[in-house]
Amino acid sequence: MKIVVLAGGLSPERNVSLSTGTMVAEALQSLGHQTALVDMYFGVESAGPELAGLFGAPVDRAGRKVSRQAPDLQEVRSSRKGTSPSLFGPGVLELCAMADLVFLALHGSCGEDGRVQAAFDLMGIPYTGAGYLGSAIAMDKDMTKRLVEDVVNTPGWKTVSYTAADIDGLVATARLPLVVKPVASGSSIGVSIARTAEELRKALTAGLALGGRTVLEQYVSGRELQVAILEDRALPSIEIIPKQGFYDYENKYQPGAATEVCPAEIPPEAEARLREAAVQVYETLGLSVYSRADFILDADGEPWFLEINTLPGMTPTSLVPQEAAAVGIGYEELCQRIVEASLK
Ligand code: DAL
Ligand code: MG
Repeated sequence: MKIVVLAGGLSPERNVSLSTGTMVAEALQSLGHQTALVDMYFGVESAGPELAGLFGAPVDRAGRKVSRQAPDLQEVRSSRKGTSPSLFGPGVLELCAMADLVFLALHGSCGEDGRVQAAFDLMGIPYTGAGYLGSAIAMDKDMTKRLVEDVVNTPGWKTVSYTAADIDGLVATARLPLVVKPVASGSSIGVSIARTAEELRKALTAGLALGGRTVLEQYVSGRELQVAILEDRALPSIEIIPKQGFYDYENKYQPGAATEVCPAEIPPEAEARLREAAVQVYETLGLSVYSRADFILDADGEPWFLEINTLPGMTPTSLVPQEAAAVGIGYEELCQRIVEASLK
């Protein structure tokens, strides 16, 4: 099969996505698929030797060296002003249209948030994972919680849109501790736990730079667990035990920064409740193929749903591959199952 693995782009999770994309492309290539790893914004990152013949089209973005470093997004956007406002680099859409399937290795905004999915639907390009609507809802933590609060436990929350002038008022009325999160981001970028008024002030000030629409969620103390879903069924849960703090960006991608236990060592009833909650969220949002739901398990064994990721990381430190391995599904088989389920 001819598969484009689409990664990178201009998301804040660009580097995570390139890591996912590189692993997925290698796996698909080993499975015998003709595979091209394509950076959504910059064009072809790497490709199998067959690429030139396979896709025909010129694939290089003239004179542009592909960088693994996250570019300064503002700078890149303004440098494109007046030329093409498209977030797809030259030739990228043409390449995608020539493939039998686009494997979405994108994370975060401009990729996981439904917009690429909607564009591909309109263009008739098959892609992996959930459709545009579930993707868009799942990327918005406020919308997600509103939709699922009647079917699963989710910590109480308030979503605020604010300017610098509102911060004093928000701090004065807050009931701490709170988890402060940008409404639409991933990999815990911009997430912090505010235990004091000063920490909340700092988090809200930082939140302004990320758009100022922020979820203030009651902090629930407990163990951090995640449940992957593959082809509509939950895999064994995984517990994350960071050596320090919570499962933030550093602890997610720094090898060895967190210990992961899969299957999680929790009572069977708690495991059943977690899996059921993950599937309920997945179904409520109309998701498909695969996803990963994140929870806190409190001292009573009750799961508290935090969020669901529709294009979960598939990097060397990511969790879905570990959960799949716990039921005997290796990385390559996981990729192949995602491919097949996406084409059904
Ligand atoms: N947003 C990252 C990639 C994850 O959920 O795994
Ligand atoms: Mg997430």
